[in-house]
Amino acid sequence: MALSVDHAYKVFGRRPKEAVKRLQAGASRDDVKQHGTAAVIDASFDVKVGEIFVVMGLSGSGKSTLIRLLNGLGDTTDGSISVFGDEIVGMSAAELREVRRERMAMVFQHFALLPHRSVLDNAAYGLEIKGVPLEERRERARGWLDRVGLKGWADSLPSELSGGMQQRVGLARAFAADTQILLMDEAFSALDPLIRREMQELLVELQQELGKTIVFITHDLNEAMFLGDRIAVMRDGKIVQLGTPNDILTDPANDYVAQFVQDVDRARVLTAGDVMEPPRAVVPASAGPRAALRTMRDMQTSACFVISSGRKLVGVVRDKDMLRLVREGSANINDALKPTPSIVTPEQYIAELFELSVESPLPVAVVDEQDRLIGVVPRVTLLASLANLPTMTTEIPIIEPTPDVPRAIITATLDATTDGNAAPDEGLTVTEGSAS
Ligand SMILES: Nc1ncnc2c1ncn2[C@@H]1O[C@H](COP(=O)(O)OP(=O)(O)OP(=O)(O)O)[C@@H](O)[C@H]1O
Ligand SMILES: [Mg+2]
Repeated sequence: MALSVDHAYKVFGRRPKEAVKRLQAGASRDDVKQHGTAAVIDASFDVKVGEIFVVMGLSGSGKSTLIRLLNGLGDTTDGSISVFGDEIVGMSAAELREVRRERMAMVFQHFALLPHRSVLDNAAYGLEIKGVPLEERRERARGWLDRVGLKGWADSLPSELSGGMQQRVGLARAFAADTQILLMDEAFSALDPLIRREMQELLVELQQELGKTIVFITHDLNEAMFLGDRIAVMRDGKIVQLGTPNDILTDPANDYVAQFVQDVDRARVLTAGDVMEPPRAVVPASAGPRAALRTMRDMQTSACFVISSGRKLVGVVRDKDMLRLVREGSANINDALKPTPSIVTPEQYIAELFELSVESPLPVAVVDEQDRLIGVVPRVTLLASLANLPTMTTEIPIIEPTPDVPRAIITATLDATTDGNAAPDEGLTVTEGSAS
């Protein structure tokens, strides 16, 4: 565990200890008002090493207060907070400075750059505090400026940079400080939406590369959902729900959370793995064209997936081609195998599936690392998932597209032929061109 918070309280005001005692006995935030403002009430959670832990909630819900308890900028009224196993409640100011310097860098909403220092020396600031010699810290900071897309700006002053660029300096400074934990309080909230998105993506990229532990505060649920491995939702000082983005989206603990969730861009939260359904239009490669035709007829599809032993997805076949093979008396569907038009992994966001889904006549195929077909996402499922309708039904969903070859023709062809035997019925006059 990088951080462990255990029954932590923070009350501002004249008699904080008294307020905590009453809160612990069941009093409400309003009940203890005369003793002080209860900003954090009974918070308990762990943050794992390498996790992005998001704290979300409306203004005044206690997010900033909570994050400041984690690095000792605010003193905890009651409860315990440990950083890599070291209890920080009760540490001296000097010890806390040491913890902040060595273990936790912080990024704020308003950049907090030093105006008279160059971009480079701002980025090197955390290293300076650590006592890293000038040349070395400048070299390391320069590397980080490059990394966040600020190559060539090292000698500028912060005032010469746009807001988004200044926040990049803030990020470079935090990463350069080389602490295992980053605390970010509304770090991207002052940025324009597009730049904000870029910064979120950059953060995720750096986090994946470096395995930092990040506590990220935001009041934007889309941001929370995009960044968070887990999200704690705060209301009036309390954590009212703690879960994965998917938990929070699909099973909000109460109306407060549900209201947040209403506005979320589900397409960037839900993944193919969250919404996929069992594949139905599937035949083994060893099956003949007749079996493939029968499957397509029963599923009313014009194509089906072909799998080899071990469920590996090897491609798709079309009804027209299977009809031809049956008429020719061929027993091998591999002769007409086509590449699967759209394949995704279960981790891909459904936002990425729309284009694939429109381009492909078949549902989008979901495969695991071993190329095994583990599910499909039909178009209706994609749409249903956006509206939060139940996606798993007991009925077979409408799988795109409708068959090219009418069922009657397939049935007639199957009846008129036998397995492995090219004996087309002479009376069978329907050709593909005349199918309607
Ligand atoms: N230094 C302080 N002294 C007294 N009360 C404070 C202090 N800091 C915060 N509070 C109170 O604690 C509560 C939580 O404030 P906090 O700043 O943690 O909220 P927040 O969730 O970060 O809000 P925002 O989204 O607006 O930043 C508020 O009622 C606030 O007025
Ligand atoms: Mg705040």
